[in-house]
Amino acid sequence: MVRDISMAPSGKKKIEWVQSSMPVLTAIEKEFRKTQPFRGLKIAISIHLEAKTANLALTLRAGGADVWVTGCNPLSTHDDVAAALEEMGFPVFAWRCCTDEEYEDFLCRTLSCHPDLILDDGGDLLSMLHGKCSDCGDRLMGGTEETTTGVMRMRQREAAGQLKYPMMAVNDADCKHLFDNRYGTGQSTWDAITNTTNLIVAGKTVVVAGYGWCGKGVAARAKGLGAEVIVTEIDPICAIEAVMDGHRVMKMDDAAPLGDFFVTVTGCYDVITERHFKMMKDGAVLSNSGHFDVEVSRSDLEKMATEIFERRFNIMGYRMPDGRVLNLLAEGRLVNLAAGNGHPAEIMDMSFAIQAYALEYMAKNAKGMTPHVFDVPRDIDMKVAAMKLTGMGVSIDALTEQQKEYLGNY
Ligand code: NAI
Repeated sequence: MVRDISMAPSGKKKIEWVQSSMPVLTAIEKEFRKTQPFRGLKIAISIHLEAKTANLALTLRAGGADVWVTGCNPLSTHDDVAAALEEMGFPVFAWRCCTDEEYEDFLCRTLSCHPDLILDDGGDLLSMLHGKCSDCGDRLMGGTEETTTGVMRMRQREAAGQLKYPMMAVNDADCKHLFDNRYGTGQSTWDAITNTTNLIVAGKTVVVAGYGWCGKGVAARAKGLGAEVIVTEIDPICAIEAVMDGHRVMKMDDAAPLGDFFVTVTGCYDVITERHFKMMKDGAVLSNSGHFDVEVSRSDLEKMATEIFERRFNIMGYRMPDGRVLNLLAEGRLVNLAAGNGHPAEIMDMSFAIQAYALEYMAKNAKGMTPHVFDVPRDIDMKVAAMKLTGMGVSIDALTEQQKEYLGNY
């Protein structure tokens, strides 16, 4: 079920383009072709459906899997890539701008394959397996989770004693969050904001809410583009880190009147609300790069606005009673995917290499694992890092036997 199958040629070109910058995943695909770790298994994947993801789906299929694919956000699917995958024989259930009902229906249809493994991004697939689609989990051994918010939801379910399957927190692997969340979100968020708005960042004030892995990247890139950066936080340690990295730190109440651009990356909700909107400058640009569209309160904007109008593709203007217009990008959904191309391919090469090996690990071991949240084994992290370095043409030193003995822990 895709928007338009005739878009497949454009999707195929996008997939070929990213493949040339994903050497680690290409090496894993070759390896999986021989080792067939997923022979006879069905894998359901729910993840931002664009070219890099398609390359991951192809890698899993090369390893013998029957892969069923859907998106993980109503706005982030690239219809041409979805069409290309469908033409290549994958069952695909996704289109861009689906309604909430269609989105849920796509998740159900994907799970109707009764998967052996799942790959989730944000936790919606897992959530359906604990609710409406619980009968589709009869063969499920376990799965992997891509992002911070999904890991948080999984851990909440685990703490409540309700997690039914073993799940691996791919987000928490070093080769994932250190690069994907920081450098990937950092660059792709600004690619999306500048392309969508066609505005300059230099000389402006950028307010970044949240100084976790994503926030550090978004703030660093804003600074590099010439902005003055203000960070808002609730964690005192992250706040000190932001100060020491050279940013101003203050409450959102104080930052609201100063910002030209606002980017939320907290994983929390109601980070920017009515009382902040009342104080903002005319023309302020609001965007979110956190997983869910709950960080910038669209309902408050809608409630306050005397007029709501499209200003440009992916920009809605909200006219306030005093005449100011606040601009919301991509409906407050994660801007780098809903209004951009997502992370650079070189970054997703690492994240998806971790995904591929984590799923291989689950295929081998999940039957003996209890329903808990597991970390990605360290040797997978180290292996992917070594492969990435090789792909980058970078060599590093190795410890001598004497050095190993001296350090004691190698
Ligand atoms: P993190 O846990 O490393 O950082 C979140 C930070 O936000 C923490 O430092 C926390 O103290 C702070 N925070 C929480 N509530 C806050 C509030 N109300 N006001 C100010 N600060 C607050 O998480 P990470 O990895 O940075 O992820 C953040 C979000 O971005 C998650 O929803 C995650 O799933 C998503 N994400 C999005 C990506 C994208 O492509 N756009 C890529 C990776 C993650």
